[in-house]
Amino acid sequence: MTSTFVGARVRAVRAVADEVRQVELVPDDGARAYPPGSHLDLALEVDGLPVVRSYSVVGAAPEDGAYRIAVKLLPDSRGGSRRVHGLAAGDRLELRHPTSHFELDPRRPGYLLVAGGIGITPLVGMAEVLARRDAPVRLVYAGRRRAAMPFVDHLRSLLGDDAVVTAAGEDGERLDLAAEVAALHPDGEVYVCGPPRLTDGVRACWAAHGRPARRLRTETFGTGGRHPTEPFDVEVRDHGLTVHVPRDRALLAALHDAGVDMVWDCLRGECGRCTVSVLGGGTVVDHRDVFLDATEQDESARLCACVSRAVGGRLAIDTGYRA
Ligand code: FES
Repeated sequence: MTSTFVGARVRAVRAVADEVRQVELVPDDGARAYPPGSHLDLALEVDGLPVVRSYSVVGAAPEDGAYRIAVKLLPDSRGGSRRVHGLAAGDRLELRHPTSHFELDPRRPGYLLVAGGIGITPLVGMAEVLARRDAPVRLVYAGRRRAAMPFVDHLRSLLGDDAVVTAAGEDGERLDLAAEVAALHPDGEVYVCGPPRLTDGVRACWAAHGRPARRLRTETFGTGGRHPTEPFDVEVRDHGLTVHVPRDRALLAALHDAGVDMVWDCLRGECGRCTVSVLGGGTVVDHRDVFLDATEQDESARLCACVSRAVGGRLAIDTGYRA
């Protein structure tokens, strides 16, 4: 059951890696126990719109009555990470207590945890629980730069050599996922959290080893895009209108500002409620959602207006389509 929002106080904020801040949140009605892999919801404002943002809770339990979240500042943040990075001790906000859609099955004979970048956050609590039980567990944690990867020392202190860390931009190494999957107990389970290319890669590797899909658990998040963020113009054919979308504004927000009646929910490219039809325009669409599959993104007949955008130039759309 989804709990209601409660008031909370920011107890502390500290940097835990380059561009990653950990925020301690003390709810007014007290922090509760939660299963590892849980997330909590924060009520924030993005582009002037009230939205709910979900963040994985760090660690297996509240620490001295506080939930901990760790948030990476995204260069093309649509407001969520920027807002969280602007928090300071003593600030007030509202949250929903943690719930889990990414729960650890405690009965498996072996575990493989795979994290990409800030996707490490839900896996920290899992590693703590499994290490405490002395369960067979390997953790592979991939990022671009070590300085931007939080919790490495903590994970190594928990798991020793079974915490494998690769920083592709510095080591030139890539994760040997095939070897990790091959070494996992036949009835073991894998938990993956990271961007779609990581979860897709693990899923393909898992299937190639003949492993059952029910033993693969994933959590993913939208991407920062494959192209630099550029301003562009959008021709809204069903409204006979052309709208300029500045670099620091989402397409959906620019359309809303211009009086176009839009529908949305998650504002993070997951639910598909904001999709519009692409009619053409001779520019590339940078799909930054996790709602459309790879084929749909290649076809570019639709886009999620809350996160995706054109790479400069001019794009023609119709807003009549609803997912
Ligand atoms: S509002 Fe959910 S995908 Fe855009």
